[in-house]
Amino acid sequence: MRLVLVGPPGAGKGTQAEVIADELGVPKISTGDIFRANVSGGTPLGLEAKRYMDAGDLVPDEVTNRMVADRLAQDDAQGGFLLDGYPRNTEQAEVLDRLLAEQGHALDLALELTVADDEVVRRLSGRRVSKSTGKVYHLEFDPPEDPESPDLYQRSDDQPETIKNRLKVYAEQTEPIIGHYEAQGKLVRIDAVGEVGSVTDRAMAAIRDRTAE
Ligand code: AP5
Repeated sequence: MRLVLVGPPGAGKGTQAEVIADELGVPKISTGDIFRANVSGGTPLGLEAKRYMDAGDLVPDEVTNRMVADRLAQDDAQGGFLLDGYPRNTEQAEVLDRLLAEQGHALDLALELTVADDEVVRRLSGRRVSKSTGKVYHLEFDPPEDPESPDLYQRSDDQPETIKNRLKVYAEQTEPIIGHYEAQGKLVRIDAVGEVGSVTDRAMAAIRDRTAE
């Protein structure tokens, strides 16, 4: 299964991607996670990406597309993958189509997670991440054992002004890819509000329906 998750910041793409990729037995490829690992490692890619990420803007396509092409060329992605956070504009969606076509493949499904803006703000302002395990918590919806633990941090792009810009960037640059996938008959939309497990159930039902077609 070759699948992309589309949705605004905080829609729960990372949370769902973890479980869905596991269920499908394909690698979860998150461009945000790859950029953050490079930022932590102080690599040239991380240094370049950081200034865009901190502002809530997209990292330039040239950098992002090359990074994704390299990742998709790895052995574990040959039988399928779940992309989380890519593509994020029409140019990236077209590059992905071409990349897959060159390998004789095509995307099976673009799964859109829908969440209203006020819920996005609640989710992102309460998000905390464990430094040691990378696990993502929410202070209200999925609270860590010790909310004051020094092991927890808040992502630098989860500040109110940056969240506002990320939502704007999503509406202006990412939402058009929904039309791109709709035109290809690949888009399935699910409601991403509710218990994490219920959202996963909806996602897996949509994937099963697509596989059965
Ligand atoms: P990225 O890391 O992809 O950020 P994002 O798309 O803004 O998404 P998030 O990771 O913020 O949210 P999510 O949807 O994964 O939600 P999560 O599961 O964590 O990208 C970061 C930056 O990198 C970009 O701004 C850009 O600069 C750059 N970048 C990345 N990809 C790029 C690309 N392709 N091109 C160019 N630049 C790129 O959940 C959020 C919170 O909600 C958590 O606390 C979670 O516990 C909670 N939660 C989850 N599900 C539920 C639920 N059902 N109910 C209640 N709470 C929930």
